[in-house]
Amino acid sequence: MTRIEEAKRPLRGELTVPGDKSIGHRAVILGSVAEGESRVFNLSGGEDNRRTVQAFKDLGVEMREEGQSLRIQGRGWNALTDPGRVIDCGNSGTTMRLLSGVLAARPFVSVLDGDASLRQRPMRRIIEPLGKMGAEIVSRNGKGLAPLEIRGGILQGIRYTLPVASAQVKSAVLLAGLQAKGETWLEEPQKSRDHTELMARAFGARISVEGRAVLVEGGQSLKATDVHVPGDLSSAAFFIVAAVLIPGSEVVIRSVGCNPTRSGVVEILMRMGARIEFLNQRIEAGEPVADLRVFGGRLRGVDVGPEMVARSIDEYPVLSVAGALAEGVTTISGARELRYKESDRIAAMAQGLRRLGVEVEEREDGMAIHGKERLNGNRVETYGDHRVAMALAIAGLSSDGGVELDDSDCVGISFPGFFASLEKCR
Ligand code: S3P
Repeated sequence: MTRIEEAKRPLRGELTVPGDKSIGHRAVILGSVAEGESRVFNLSGGEDNRRTVQAFKDLGVEMREEGQSLRIQGRGWNALTDPGRVIDCGNSGTTMRLLSGVLAARPFVSVLDGDASLRQRPMRRIIEPLGKMGAEIVSRNGKGLAPLEIRGGILQGIRYTLPVASAQVKSAVLLAGLQAKGETWLEEPQKSRDHTELMARAFGARISVEGRAVLVEGGQSLKATDVHVPGDLSSAAFFIVAAVLIPGSEVVIRSVGCNPTRSGVVEILMRMGARIEFLNQRIEAGEPVADLRVFGGRLRGVDVGPEMVARSIDEYPVLSVAGALAEGVTTISGARELRYKESDRIAAMAQGLRRLGVEVEEREDGMAIHGKERLNGNRVETYGDHRVAMALAIAGLSSDGGVELDDSDCVGISFPGFFASLEKCR
């Protein structure tokens, strides 16, 4: 149990956040299947990224931490070997889905499993396209749930339209497509984060992107390279919201990845009236990076429509906290996908905010949140979901009497030093 006391004064200070979780997974995956030595700098120490590292160690890839970097000795796709045991993806959907794309084309059988949350998450979305490419993937009771048994082999490129925008599904198909025969073309209803496309290019892959469509040639080998992982905007979002909600605050968050396919949260907060400045904008390893200066003030409610989902899905928990403290009503719609994350984030946030005295209408694809000036203090449930836990912790800063989280260890999934960073700027 962890208690977050209300903030007695504005937040001040400078901080950094862990390396971007999404980019970290991709750096480890591509480094592992490339040829030569790659170094990954600023990999988050989070549990999810560690699962991907362990998975590739299980598959026979040699890697070791050296100072600030992870050194990976890649020997190409063909050097991956039968792990001889179940690969445990823990809580990480990205590990399970992207790894499925890699293993679909490997000539051995592998089994991927995860924790209770991951075992509930939909895997048909990858089983279907990888199956069309020729992979045989068996799920628990045929219900599209993990554990998954992947019987990999020679794949054929496909043309595929994703029913729902998803960077994990897109990346799984691209990783399989790089190893397949012929071309793979896919299109999404909305453009999801494009870290796989950007990083595969940095590893020498030929990939073309046209709007929401991506085309990749099969039979490509990758060349090792170094990757500097920028700070995770999804982790920074908790501090951005904390600062904008407490009048008089001024917080600078250094070296944050600001890829436009991820930056919806900043756009939404600015629409709500937040003052956020982008300083020292630069490109690092193909990804836009900036220092963010955030000022506290008063927000107003807005409508967050379906067009924002792909670019800000992971930030909806903390955005719902911003809505709870804004003037007027904030609505979120078209975000059914939130129900399939590490927890059902619509239900979890609606329940948490209600316990803090907020009027919330829960809808199938979102919610309407009636903002108020202060929240009540109370005990809340995190459902073991890192982003729900951190969002409710931020709510605690603006509550009368503080918020008690039933389980806060889960923040270590993406942001092990979260509570220490929070203390630093109080
Ligand atoms: C991720 C993609 C997103 C996001 C998840 C990480 C990724 O999911 O919610 O936390 O690293 O590719 P989708 O696959 O639904 O886009």
